[in-house]
Amino acid sequence: MAADMHQNLEILYTRQQIAERVAEMGAQITRDLNGEKLVMVGVLKGAAPFLADLARAVNVDATFDFVATSSYGCGQRSSGAVKLIKDLDEPVEGKNVLVVEDILDTGLTLSYLRKHFMQQRPKSLRIATLLDKPSRRIEKIEADYVGFSIPNLFVIGYGMDYAERYRNLPDICLMTPDHPE
Ligand code: PRP
Repeated sequence: MAADMHQNLEILYTRQQIAERVAEMGAQITRDLNGEKLVMVGVLKGAAPFLADLARAVNVDATFDFVATSSYGCGQRSSGAVKLIKDLDEPVEGKNVLVVEDILDTGLTLSYLRKHFMQQRPKSLRIATLLDKPSRRIEKIEADYVGFSIPNLFVIGYGMDYAERYRNLPDICLMTPDHPE
């Protein structure tokens, strides 16, 4: 699915810019792991493309696990409550965990997940997010690895959706109005 097939999409970060940043993040994570093993925990669904690329950019012995939460309704934030829809397959006690997110917004999701994972006493817990919107934060939480820090823009593509669509755009895009005034 190409962004230029949609008149009302504007590219914010190209696939090349994303690939370069993900490679840098992978190198940093590799250095920080210092040869230790890693469990990469993707937060479905939005983080799937980022996790797939980041996993291939880290040079460590890694396994994958996934969780799913809900905090947004269809296209809009519905409530502040975070619900765990799918938990980890394996407990992470004693393991190095990297939580992988597409976007850190209010921080409600990652605060909830951090608390949830810390109850299992991992050896370490770090957070990688491709995008960060610090101006939107409600919960006090920061990621250890941030791809791009952005203002409060509604972004889609590379995993991120509008009403479940556009996740398969290779670039990160902004939706522009159909009929600009
Ligand atoms: C998005 C994103 C994060 C969360 C961030 O997920 O992937 O998980 O919202 O927002 P927060 O910091 O305000 O909690 P969403 O619930 O839209 O699900 P999705 O990944 O399936 O699109």
